[in-house]
Amino acid sequence: MASPMSPGQQPTIATENGRAARPVAVPSGAPLAVRGLTVSYGEKPAVFSVDATFPAESMSAIIGPNGAGKSTLLKASLGVIPRLSGDVYVFGQAIEKARERIAYVPQRASVDWDFPTTVMDVVQMGLYRRVGLLGRLSGRMAARARDCLDRVGMADFAHRQIGQLSGGQQQRVFLARALAQDADLYLLDEPFAGVDAATERAIIDVLKTLKAEGKAVVAVHHDLSTVRDYFDHVFLINVRRIAEGPVATAFTTGNLQATYGGRLAATHLDELSPTGGA
Ligand SMILES: Nc1ncnc2c1ncn2[C@@H]1O[C@H](COP(=O)(O)OP(=O)(O)OP(=O)(O)O)[C@@H](O)[C@H]1O
Ligand SMILES: [Mg+2]
Repeated sequence: MASPMSPGQQPTIATENGRAARPVAVPSGAPLAVRGLTVSYGEKPAVFSVDATFPAESMSAIIGPNGAGKSTLLKASLGVIPRLSGDVYVFGQAIEKARERIAYVPQRASVDWDFPTTVMDVVQMGLYRRVGLLGRLSGRMAARARDCLDRVGMADFAHRQIGQLSGGQQQRVFLARALAQDADLYLLDEPFAGVDAATERAIIDVLKTLKAEGKAVVAVHHDLSTVRDYFDHVFLINVRRIAEGPVATAFTTGNLQATYGGRLAATHLDELSPTGGA
């Protein structure tokens, strides 16, 4: 049985003959670090041998083409899908011990919107971890749920069925649920997909407030034109890790080309490169 690990402790890999192998460097303060992560749904890995470190008190973007393994990386980081190999550390702790510190907003297409539940129910689901599934939500917690809806501009919709909202409104409600969890690490899968400019602004304002409060935000993001404006750090993936680092140094034409291959037009890349476009 694995022994408990304190935050920041450097784990070692036990080899088959029982000797400890080289220590795996895991930055103790990093909100999220994965090491040697491989996930496979079939024969071909969706994520292969990925190392990634997402920094504290910052906004990080996970960037890559469709099918690159971005959602898979997030789900494996949450511990909700099995890993073929590798480890996930949340604030230096094994994921199994730190799940409660993470809030997750799934990719919209993956949610069953016909599920018969109200907006208020969805947000209060974020609070169940505290009270247990059979526990009663106190008035204080209901007030907290309402406050989170208010933060995303959805307080007027509290009693609406979730399936009767527009896509952008649903996205705001799922963000409210994540806020209700009062987590330290927020994982969001394409939070801006299919939302209008006002909703995008509202969501980015909430995320920037989280960062200002000292939280870490990691979001899968497709719109390359807003990366510089929204994010501090990028992780580029196409099944394998392509590059990672501060936006200023890692979000480069060369790295984008390596990530997308021929799928991005040269003119598009010119506009995005640090020296081009402006
Ligand atoms: N449940 C599943 N069963 C089998 N294959 C899957 C499953 N989920 C994802 N895949 C496959 O794994 C690969 C990575 O999928 P993933 O959803 O992680 O990509 P993504 O980078 O999030 O793409 P997108 O930008 O389209 O959301 C794809 O080839 C996909 O078809
Ligand atoms: Mg995805």
